[in-house]
Amino acid sequence: MSSALFESFPLNSTISLANRFVMAPLTRCMAGPGLVPTDIMAEYYGRRADAGLIISEATIIRADAQGYPDTPGIFNDEQIAGWKKITQKVHANGGKIFMQLWHVGRVAHSHFSGLQPVAPSAVKHEGTLPRMRDLSYEMPKALTHEDIQQLVTDYVTAAQNAMAAGFDGVEIHGANGYLIDQFLHFDTNKRTDEYGETPENMSRFALQVVDAVSAAVGAERTALRITPGAYAHIAPDARDREVFDYFIEQLNQRELAYLHLGIFDDSMTFEHLGGRSSTYIRERYQGTFMSVGGLTPETAAQGIANNEFDLAAIGRPFIANPDFIQRVRENTPLVEYNNDMLAELI
Ligand SMILES: Cc1cc2nc3c(=O)[nH]c(=O)nc-3n(C[C@H](O)[C@H](O)[C@H](O)COP(=O)(O)O)c2cc1C
Repeated sequence: MSSALFESFPLNSTISLANRFVMAPLTRCMAGPGLVPTDIMAEYYGRRADAGLIISEATIIRADAQGYPDTPGIFNDEQIAGWKKITQKVHANGGKIFMQLWHVGRVAHSHFSGLQPVAPSAVKHEGTLPRMRDLSYEMPKALTHEDIQQLVTDYVTAAQNAMAAGFDGVEIHGANGYLIDQFLHFDTNKRTDEYGETPENMSRFALQVVDAVSAAVGAERTALRITPGAYAHIAPDARDREVFDYFIEQLNQRELAYLHLGIFDDSMTFEHLGGRSSTYIRERYQGTFMSVGGLTPETAAQGIANNEFDLAAIGRPFIANPDFIQRVRENTPLVEYNNDMLAELI
């Protein structure tokens, strides 16, 4: 296959990608004791270093950020040392890797940390944890102003830790119904202070995190993932549209490395967004836009040719095909993904 996908792409004057295929962040729940990344994870990521960019699996910034078993962390020296082995492997194999910084907010559970989950508002997510059906979601504590300041500081420390571990940059996980996204949607944000009620207020926390992390590690090494159309852990609300209109306009005034859509299937349409999430973002965001969600090599090539996005993130096919890039380059058929593949890191 020959297309613009295999040409190098500069994110900015600091970082250039060898091609436009990105390995999407993929939680694998295989960190070792203490949520320390393992040597097997280094092999797993190292094998995929020919992607233009790897985005790490979501990585928790502190103990109460955890909502799934064995997800890696980036808040102590052992975790930093574990990640160092991964970044070294990826770099030795010629790749680049960003860390995805994660706090799940109200979908955390005290089972993991002994701590009550935190969220913009005390609104519980109904249901049970995936793969841990005996655990129901808990009532979160609504964050105080002090708590919010502390969280911003903790995102910054996590970003600095990621840089100390050798990452090329960080992607702030603002998508998929987790903490930052919970501020951006009316279903989960019931605040009546300067973090709630209006688009400006509801965007405030996300922008504070973006600005503080950018100031600490450089905007050219800071990226963000967002989900304008709620589809996971949050119910959609037509008023969310105004929040994202405002939020994206604010992001246009920053110079982030890229903006990344968070969605599983981008053929989904949202009435209040006027169609697909990717189209909605592309029409508003002026910087580098990374799309995702059911892309194939062919639809990725088309999307780039039609100027629908700049970078194509690939998730499940990268699990099924460690040699995804080589197969696409050589036109070799891809192995089809199935959920059984999640049992092992290959
Ligand atoms: C097993 C699995 C784990 C995932 N983990 C994350 C994650 O840690 N962070 C994130 O933002 N998205 C995560 N996603 C979503 C993917 O990044 C991607 O958006 C989604 O898989 C759609 O792309 P695809 O159709 O190419 O797989 C995950 C998806 C899967 C299937």
